[in-house]
Amino acid sequence: MNASDPGATRPRRFAAGGPLCGRIRVPGDKSISHRSIMLGALAVGRTHVTGLLEGEDVLSTAAAMRAMGATIARLDNGTWTIDGVGVGGLLQPRTALDMGNSGTSTRLLMGLVASHPITATFIGDASLSGRPMGRVIEPLSQMGASFTASPGGRLPLTLRGIMPAVPITYTLPVASAQVKSAVLLAGLNTPGITTVIEPIPTRDHSERMLRGFGAALEVEIASNGTRTIHLTGEAELRPQVIEVPGDPSSAAFFVVAALLVPGSDLVIENVGLNPTRAALFDVLRAMGGSIDEIDRRDVGGEPAADLRVRASALSGIVVDPAAVPSMVDEFPVLFVAAALASGRTVTTGLEELRVKESDRIAVMRAALELAGARVIETEDGLIIDGTAGEPLAGTPEGAEVSTHLDHRIAMSMAVAGLASRQGVAVDDTRPIATSFPVFEALLASAMSAA
Ligand code: S3P
Repeated sequence: MNASDPGATRPRRFAAGGPLCGRIRVPGDKSISHRSIMLGALAVGRTHVTGLLEGEDVLSTAAAMRAMGATIARLDNGTWTIDGVGVGGLLQPRTALDMGNSGTSTRLLMGLVASHPITATFIGDASLSGRPMGRVIEPLSQMGASFTASPGGRLPLTLRGIMPAVPITYTLPVASAQVKSAVLLAGLNTPGITTVIEPIPTRDHSERMLRGFGAALEVEIASNGTRTIHLTGEAELRPQVIEVPGDPSSAAFFVVAALLVPGSDLVIENVGLNPTRAALFDVLRAMGGSIDEIDRRDVGGEPAADLRVRASALSGIVVDPAAVPSMVDEFPVLFVAAALASGRTVTTGLEELRVKESDRIAVMRAALELAGARVIETEDGLIIDGTAGEPLAGTPEGAEVSTHLDHRIAMSMAVAGLASRQGVAVDDTRPIATSFPVFEALLASAMSAA
């Protein structure tokens, strides 16, 4: 959402309405969409992107890259073209870069700006302005960039980039693909070799795409799983033709909805299944969920398949904290699945959820309690005792769960509403447009296909 225009909220009640059936296709992957615009904007020549997510977050990235010199257009057939300025060629933006709700845009673009001789001010909405940026400020300062940030290392902040920047070797203190990517993107215009050491693997879309655009990038994987990524700077990027697979984080809402609503039998086409993203589907299968992969294939250098999901009785599970980075955005909707499972689900190691678009541990605890679930909040997770398939019964008519400008809370509680007796009222569905603008339309189509 535009930082300067909080606008009116859009409340909506989601209630049971029969099974989800037929075939749907979710929009393109958000992480890959951001990166395709950023790298396209740094290549010399024209990049073509099909399946780009046209959500507000990705549009914030596109607006920022335009403000720094790239030419970005959408053709009538839905393909996006990006004419890049070349690594080192970003221009001084004339006004502040409005990142809306998007942490990925902010942190990755901070990396890009850091090694260019330009100054940029980043602003965002109330949710983004509460999120920590120190995790990117620290390594980028080591590379020579300087910052004036709001208290606590938050937005609004002004970043003065430097050229030439200093190549660093940086060990990630938190498992964050955004921090990793910020350092690698800064390394693109830095002489020498920039190295990121990742003790716990996170999504690897940046590495895959940097290689695809022709950057010299090497990854060593140690026997304990630590990944060391070397990027040779002053790279020359070649324009690409990119097909963006469907977003597994968006598919997740429909997968859980189809598992929970009796009689559902839904095919979700073209879902990206990069192993650094797809752990939710393994966890749901281990809980008893029927999720079949059909026609596994490669889409734009990423594994993908159609998923057939049938309503299933789920059992509680202890989720291995090692899986957290590979499903970090999917916990809100996993909590909903757990609330309907038989027995107890225990999640741990979720500290990072407290600094997402909202504090997703506290916000989901409050929302699920209002919807009638039995939930215990711990420092680093939730413990949920499920209903064994009985619809949730709790929300008194009119009581609204608070989404706190968090798209994934809104969509997770919409799914909870489908599996409830009285429905679930969501205070504001506008944030859904940041990542999944057609969510409500797809839900209506799946529910009318039975
Ligand atoms: C993302 C990384 C994750 C994720 C976010 C997208 C990315 O954030 O939560 O939605 O595209 O790199 P962190 O790096 O903060 O874990």
